[in-house]
Amino acid sequence: MKFFVTGANGMLGHDVVQELLKRGYEVTGSGTKQDFSWKNGRPDCGYACLDITDREAVVRTLEREKPDAVIHCAAWNAVDLAEEEANRGNVMAVNALGTGYIAESCVKTDCKLIYISTDFVFDGSGEKPASADETSFGPLNYYGMSKLEGEKKISASMEKFYIVRTSWAYGVNGENFVKTMIKAGKKHDTVRVVNDQIATPTYTRDLARLLADMAESDKYGFYNATNEGGFVSKYELILEAYRQFGLDTKVIPVTTEEYGPILAMRPKNGRMCKEKIKKQGFLPLPDWRDALNRYLAEETFLSNEVKNGTDQCCEKCRRYRGSLCDHSRRSQRQQRELL
Ligand SMILES: NC(=O)c1ccc[n+]([C@@H]2O[C@H](COP(=O)([O-])OP(=O)(O)OC[C@H]3O[C@@H](n4cnc5c(N)ncnc54)[C@H](OP(=O)(O)O)[C@@H]3O)[C@@H](O)[C@H]2O)c1
Repeated sequence: MKFFVTGANGMLGHDVVQELLKRGYEVTGSGTKQDFSWKNGRPDCGYACLDITDREAVVRTLEREKPDAVIHCAAWNAVDLAEEEANRGNVMAVNALGTGYIAESCVKTDCKLIYISTDFVFDGSGEKPASADETSFGPLNYYGMSKLEGEKKISASMEKFYIVRTSWAYGVNGENFVKTMIKAGKKHDTVRVVNDQIATPTYTRDLARLLADMAESDKYGFYNATNEGGFVSKYELILEAYRQFGLDTKVIPVTTEEYGPILAMRPKNGRMCKEKIKKQGFLPLPDWRDALNRYLAEETFLSNEVKNGTDQCCEKCRRYRGSLCDHSRRSQRQQRELL
């Protein structure tokens, strides 16, 4: 199969390209930059510089590339900045119009489209998890509105599509909440984290595996996809991240209101039901705690500390650096205390 991946310089796009290459597929990544801008070096595959808001360019590029599937990871993702009047036109152009041009080109070239959407298309009221085929939408912010418009452009114009909604994504090739809070935890004795926004975090490496599985099948439709292991607040996520990383920083739970004003409202209920993944025969994502452990091991800022200190993990339990043991965590903590 031949794949075209938009947003290939982003957090999810990076992991999707890696997953597809690992499976031996022909891949062309794309983004607005002249070439790949990965921190860990350029992958050995094609690249197309493409602004998805340029309709002619999208049609021309996909007609030239003739992929069997497009995995569309490009988006305007700065949720707070998306609220600003000056940015709104651009947000809609990328997330809605650009997505529409990609859908149009996929129809023309008879190729599958996998679009990544978000729990932010829902209004976040109540406590019930949204089903994959839920249709009562109510985005609370402009980013959510634009992503919903993107969904509609696809579902109204084509059949061979997957719309995969995810939440709280983190991965090595991008800034994310977990990374930000680890950095904050290394600097401060105390951090405040909201405890009334509930969802499930998603490791982009795990999501990339599922997206590739979907592309290999034809069980089209709407899906919710996050890691497994239940629903948690952002507070619980950061507590667990600090525990795994070996940070003693005190985490104070606060409500969204107590946290203070931010530009974009976030849904408090980001719970999504993922039953459809299993029902359709796809392998669900692993538990979020396991995912977090693998992510923290993959991050270079963590690996560097391990390399500089204890080297390849632990003499005692002989576990490899990829799965940090309690002994090595303790040892890292001791090293940090020495610095
Ligand atoms: N991050 C989350 O927590 C989260 C949660 C739910 C859903 N999602 C969805 O998951 C998908 C992937 O998110 P992510 O966090 O991996 O995003 P990301 O790291 O912000 O990457 C997005 C990429 O989109 C590309 N892009 C932006 N404007 C473009 C344009 N006009 N034309 C072409 N490419 C453009 C950028 O490419 P260049 O770098 O080349 O400019 C950028 O690398 C998105 O659809 C997002 O809405 C994310």
